[in-house]
Amino acid sequence: MPGTTVPTPPLRSLLGEAPASDRTRWLTSRLVALTTEGRLPPGTRLPSERRLAEELGLSRGTVVHALDAARDRGVLAARQGSGRVVRAARDGAGPVESLTARPGALPAGSIDLRATVLPPHPRLHEVAGEAVDTITDDPAWGSVPAEGLPELIDEICAHYGRRGLPTTPDQVLVTTGAISGLHLALRTVTSPGARVGTENPGYPNTARVITAARRRVVPLDVDPLDPGALGSGALRPGAAHGETLVRAIGSGALDAAVLTPDFHNPGGRLLGDADRSRLLREAARTGTPLIIDETLAGMAWRPGVLPPAPTASHGAATLLVGSVSKMLWAGLRIGWIRTSRELADSLSRIRLGVDLGAPLLEQRITARLLAGDSAVPAQREHIAATYEVASAGLCELLPHWRWREPDGGLSIWAGGTRRPAAELVRAAGERGVALSPGALFSPSGTGWPHALRIPFSGRADDLRRALEVLAELES
Ligand SMILES: Cc1ncc(COP(=O)(O)O)c(C=O)c1O
Repeated sequence: MPGTTVPTPPLRSLLGEAPASDRTRWLTSRLVALTTEGRLPPGTRLPSERRLAEELGLSRGTVVHALDAARDRGVLAARQGSGRVVRAARDGAGPVESLTARPGALPAGSIDLRATVLPPHPRLHEVAGEAVDTITDDPAWGSVPAEGLPELIDEICAHYGRRGLPTTPDQVLVTTGAISGLHLALRTVTSPGARVGTENPGYPNTARVITAARRRVVPLDVDPLDPGALGSGALRPGAAHGETLVRAIGSGALDAAVLTPDFHNPGGRLLGDADRSRLLREAARTGTPLIIDETLAGMAWRPGVLPPAPTASHGAATLLVGSVSKMLWAGLRIGWIRTSRELADSLSRIRLGVDLGAPLLEQRITARLLAGDSAVPAQREHIAATYEVASAGLCELLPHWRWREPDGGLSIWAGGTRRPAAELVRAAGERGVALSPGALFSPSGTGWPHALRIPFSGRADDLRRALEVLAELES
């Protein structure tokens, strides 16, 4: 098989630092992860065993065993001469081993910082009551068109109108939250085995959606905290977030991308207007459909940070996936897709094989709460105050951690933990504080070993207590 040899220094930084023990297993799992993610594409020739051993500071025996194990797991071809070549994945989908599907209940009194959940919209109780009162008056006896309740679709069109993107009802499909929207969008614009770019680090369930749909995750590295430098005190800035995305789309090597340009999870980065336009132009030029996760688009709580315009223009095929999980209430489980009429037609057909629509009451409540929405979340004061607790606590209690101020959103991405993040999270769990380690935010489940996500959406007291526990564990 032809292919270029990957030079050793980039391979070394892709692999990360070898642990003190169990190095064969470590090298095998890193090679499997990198090939599955597409970071070592099929046809790539690895350096010779001798070179690899020298460069990685491992024994030749360790390298040979690891390469053989990676071959047995189907990601490397049998040995040819002195090097090994990456094989095409057998079914185009690799496991996302990092995700715990059923995280389980925490002991009473625990502080749960694993998700970014906000208090419900202040008018939820009143509006839910009104929606219940309409049940028996409904002439359709509760049956709803699969594409969505017309009154909600009208409000979604108005929501985009206010954000400067004229939208008609036949461009909208209501879904059960953003995740089902991402899944439907992906199935509409790609086929099994497709190469789908997404940010790394990124929201863990995005990678899960891509692999569950039997597409391949192509991680787009957007981390400002370079993993090679974390923990060593010498922080190097990573490649600029926008530039990475623009280049990836401009390369034409992706079949689609699922991106979160609006207050990216976990780091809260907002893509600037210029990068957004370049991204859309490159998507149009290369014919790469963009699935834009707008779940956090309303989370513009910082004074002076304007809510972003929708990522749609310049002739690019875009599927905007919205959700009310943050801006109204996580319990509603309502989302939508806004796209072209043609794609909305295809989406509707595919959707009928998935479910027959989102629940009526939740759609009605959403329609009423969305009416006249401002782009700023109702919980703006709560978020700004909790963020203050997070940032002050990090500076005071964990001054050796590195993090960048978020532009908005609901979490801080912090690196530079003294102990490996997985170990820190385990120890914090024993002290009643549940957190997500950095590895959860990499598609392979093995990246960012010294990083954590700190959400600031919950209760301020809990957050302060959690930071105190982390500081004790890090001292
Ligand atoms: C970027 C992003 N997308 C999607 C979701 C999940 O959205 P939903 O609850 O609407 O499925 C989240 C939740 O935190 C998120 O941060």
